[in-house]
Amino acid sequence: MDTFEIDGPVRLSGTIDVAGSKNATLPIMAGALLAGGQTIIENAPNLADIAGFETILQSLGVPTQRSGGNLAIDATKIENPVGEYDLVRKMRASICILGPLLARCGQVKVSMPGGCAIGDRPVDIHLRGLKELGAQIHLENGYIVATVPPGGLRGKQIFLGGPFGSTVLGTDNVMMAACLAKGTTVIESAACEPEVADLANFLNAMGAKIKGIGSPRLTIEGVKELKPIRYKVIGDRIEAGTFMVAAAITGGSLYVRHCSLNDMVAITDRLNHIGVDVEETPDGCFVNRSGPIRPADITTQPYPGFPTDLQAQFMTLLALANGNSVITEKIYPDRFMHVAELNRMGAGLRKEGPSVFIPGTDKLVAAPVMASDLRASAALVLAGMAAHGKTIINRVYHIDRGYEKIEEKLNAVGAKIYRKQI
Ligand code: EPU
Repeated sequence: MDTFEIDGPVRLSGTIDVAGSKNATLPIMAGALLAGGQTIIENAPNLADIAGFETILQSLGVPTQRSGGNLAIDATKIENPVGEYDLVRKMRASICILGPLLARCGQVKVSMPGGCAIGDRPVDIHLRGLKELGAQIHLENGYIVATVPPGGLRGKQIFLGGPFGSTVLGTDNVMMAACLAKGTTVIESAACEPEVADLANFLNAMGAKIKGIGSPRLTIEGVKELKPIRYKVIGDRIEAGTFMVAAAITGGSLYVRHCSLNDMVAITDRLNHIGVDVEETPDGCFVNRSGPIRPADITTQPYPGFPTDLQAQFMTLLALANGNSVITEKIYPDRFMHVAELNRMGAGLRKEGPSVFIPGTDKLVAAPVMASDLRASAALVLAGMAAHGKTIINRVYHIDRGYEKIEEKLNAVGAKIYRKQI
C-alpha cells in the first residue's frame, strides 16, 4: 500500500496541466454501450477509476484498449449485460451502465451499489426515472433486474428531483435510456453539471436528439439507433479547482492549463472572496495569492452552485484564514471524514450537523493522517504542502482513483511529495 510523505511548507509556481474529466469520462464510457461498433474517447484520464470501469465493460464482453490519452471501446457485441457485485461494489459510478444496457439489450442485471465513505448514496431516483419510461424493475439477490416491456421504452415527461436536488448519474441513466425510447422524453429537474452536458453532447454526436443541454429541462426525442464516434472529453474542473486551491494555500502562483473557467464560476467567486486572484486565459487561468487568506462561508449545492467535490479542499484552505468560516454540506451531509484528520494537524474544526465551523489558524502542523475518500485525500495533500514539518498520508490509493500522478504534477511546480511503498 502506498503512502505520501510531504515536506512543508512549500510555495508553488509554474504551469500545471489538468487532465480530462473523470466524472465526464465514466458516463461517456457507459454511453459507448449504446452504439454497435468502436467508440474512441480522447483525453480520457489515466486513473484507477477509469481502469476499474474498463474492467466492468470487459466483463460485459466489451473489449477496451488504451493508447496514450485515447480509450477505445468496442461495443459491437454485448455478451453479458450483467454488472457483477464484486465489480460494482468497488465503484458506485458503475450504476450508469444500467440505462444504456437496458436500452441496447432489452434487459440488464446490475448489482445494487452498497454504502460508501461519503455517506448513504441511494439510486431510487434512477430506478423511478427508468420505470417512468416503462422499464419493469425488481430486486433479486441484491441485483437490480430491469427489462424493457413488449412495446419498448416510451418517452414521457419525468420529474427527477430528489431530497438533495438533482442527481448527476440518475440524469445520465435516464437520458441514455431515453435516447433509444419511442417518442419524446422531457426530464424536469435534470442535473446541469458540465459533465452531464458533456455526455449529452457526446450522445448528440452519436446521433441522439437532445435539447436543453446544460439546463434543468432536457428534451430527448428518441431515435432508432446511435453510431460509434470519436469524442474528446472536457477538462476536469474538480482537479483544476484542487490546483487553484494548491496555488492559494501555498501563497503561490500557478498557470492552471486545460480547463474552462466558464464551468467554475462558483469556485472563482469564493476564491476571489478569500483573496485569491484568478485571471482567465483562453485555455485556463492564472491563480495567485499574495495577501492573507480571508474567511468565507460556503454551501455546497448542485451546479451551478459550489461543488461538493471541492468542499474538503476549501476547508483546508479556510483552516488557514484570518477569521471564522462556515462550510455547509447540502449534497452529502456526512461527507466530513477529513475533519478529524485536519484536526490532527491543528485546524481546530468543529462539526455541527451538516456544517463545520472553521476558526482559522495561522499555522498547520504536520502529522500522520489517513486518507478516507478521494476528495478528502486531496484535502490532506493540500494541508501537507502548507503544514510545517513532514506529513504522512496513508491509503493514498484513494487519491489515485481520481487524480492522475498528482505528486508528479505538484512536484514539478515546487511541492515535495514522496510516494513510498510500505
Ligand atoms: N440521491 C438520491 N437518490 C438517487 C440519487 C441521488 O437521493 O437516486 C441523492 C444523493 O444521495 C445525494 C444527491 O442526491 O445526496 C446527489 O447525488 P448524485 O446522484 O448527483 O451523485 P452521483 O451522480 O452518484 C456524482 C459524482 C460525484 C459527485 C456527485 C455530486 C460521478 C461518477 N460521481 O455522483 O463525484 O460528488 O455527482 O456532484 O460523476 C467524486 O468525484 O469524488 C464524486 C463523489
